Amino acid sequence: MSKPAAVVVLAAGQGTRMRSELPKVLHRVCGRSLLGHLLAATQTLEAAETLVVVGHGRDAVAAEVAAAAPAASCVVQEEQKGTGHAVRRALAELPTLEGTVVVVPGDVPLLTGATLQRLVAEHEAAGAVATVLTARMADPTGYGRVLRDVGGGVLGIVEQRDATAEQREINEVGTSIYAFDALVLRDALGRLTTDNVQGEEYLTDVIALFVAGGRRVGAVLAGEAEVGGVNDRAQLGDAGAALRDRTVREWQRSGVTVVDRASTWIDVTVTLEPDCTVEPFTMLHGRTTVAAGATVGPYSRLTDTSVGAGASVVAATCVGAQIGAKAAVGPYTYLRAGTVLETAAKAGGFVEIKKSTVGAGSKVPHLSYIGDATIGANVNIGAGSITCNFDGRDKHQTYIGDDVFIGSDTMLVAPVTVGDGAYTAAGSAITRDVPAGSLAVGRAQQRTIDGWAERRGRRTVHSASPPETVSTQDPDSSTDRGAQQ
Ligand code: UD1
Ligand code: CA
Repeated sequence: MSKPAAVVVLAAGQGTRMRSELPKVLHRVCGRSLLGHLLAATQTLEAAETLVVVGHGRDAVAAEVAAAAPAASCVVQEEQKGTGHAVRRALAELPTLEGTVVVVPGDVPLLTGATLQRLVAEHEAAGAVATVLTARMADPTGYGRVLRDVGGGVLGIVEQRDATAEQREINEVGTSIYAFDALVLRDALGRLTTDNVQGEEYLTDVIALFVAGGRRVGAVLAGEAEVGGVNDRAQLGDAGAALRDRTVREWQRSGVTVVDRASTWIDVTVTLEPDCTVEPFTMLHGRTTVAAGATVGPYSRLTDTSVGAGASVVAATCVGAQIGAKAAVGPYTYLRAGTVLETAAKAGGFVEIKKSTVGAGSKVPHLSYIGDATIGANVNIGAGSITCNFDGRDKHQTYIGDDVFIGSDTMLVAPVTVGDGAYTAAGSAITRDVPAGSLAVGRAQQRTIDGWAERRGRRTVHSASPPETVSTQDPDSSTDRGAQQ
């Protein structure tokens, strides 16, 4: 296959049927906008020019084009007068274009580069002036139907709205994806009329014009799953589910264990190494990577997070985190941007970490908040400990050396440093630096007042009274209630 001279993407329509403020092609599935998926497929053609026709929400659509395909340019179609008009508008920007031009709509996110390449290759091999990508649809409602002669030659495409009852029985549809000879297409576009139910210039009508002029039109059949257009949110959901299934299947074939395809969402931008495992109800988004031997899930949602070899991430939400090899995360853990867990570190249940490094072998096992902290190796952070990093105005750093033991419920009031091998006593508020090797105790001394409860007229815990003497109003009698009932 040679490289086409141009690709034209039609993305000016509002997508009225989406009932959305957002232009249709910017709706997202599996980590990209509809337009982003399409541009990823067209880029495999390596066309000399890619033009995206924009109209509705043009600024937002143009921004997406710049991000997804920086080499592409946008051309504005002020009024949406039909798919034929849109292509005419694009070709006006390329007055000297010759050779093959590929036209695609912006709303077919499942289309693959391989199918586009097959379309161009067959178009060139047949020497046709136009080749239509078609598909047989179980339910062709809404699509243009492909009309063929008795010999199977393509005669034209008739839109659903303009079709007779008999034509609507045809289940081969035009996908709005074509390869054209640019010169012949330009000529035909100039001859389109608006003589149809919608009063638009239909690109589909060029096919009948070619046939009337004795030109050869080809057709290439694609799989139904790949070419379904997204026109409403139900179809958006269908496309998302199909893309999810396809993406996960590809990872399974490449050696990743995905336990439940239906409840696993993997963005197309994610990278997984063979022999990692993804447990059910897991979503992997953005630039997330998972290394060999790691297990993610069940119930985890990772965005732009890297998971090292052999790590385990259970029931966690991680955004912008780096999880080291053999590290353990979860359950019910929230790792935010800038979290680095080094090798074999642990972030356990009900732990939130932000912009902090937890050194190799260090553990934050239970109910902690760690923010703006650097924790050395082999540290244990006792349950309920917190870095108090915010004074109401500024964020401050906490430094904890190697081999430190932070007692349960320690409040580390930043800025503060705890030296190597130091200890803090449980329940301490640490407001000053703790030198290496020392024990810091920052809490009130316990006072014990003997006989206090009896003087208040209360029973002591150990002198349990026989059930019949206990008042049902007594709040301390709960342990005896079972016996009374
Ligand atoms: C179109 C085809 C139909 C085909 C179907 C496949 C026509 C007339 N109909 O119908 O035969 O079966 O796609 O999905 O071509 N657009 C513009 N400018 C316009 C009009 C549309 O840029 O003036 C863009 C839209 O944004 C969209 C694409 O062209 O991305 C297709 O338009 P849409 O309205 O979705 O066409 P369908 O009714 O689906
Ligand atoms: Ca469509």
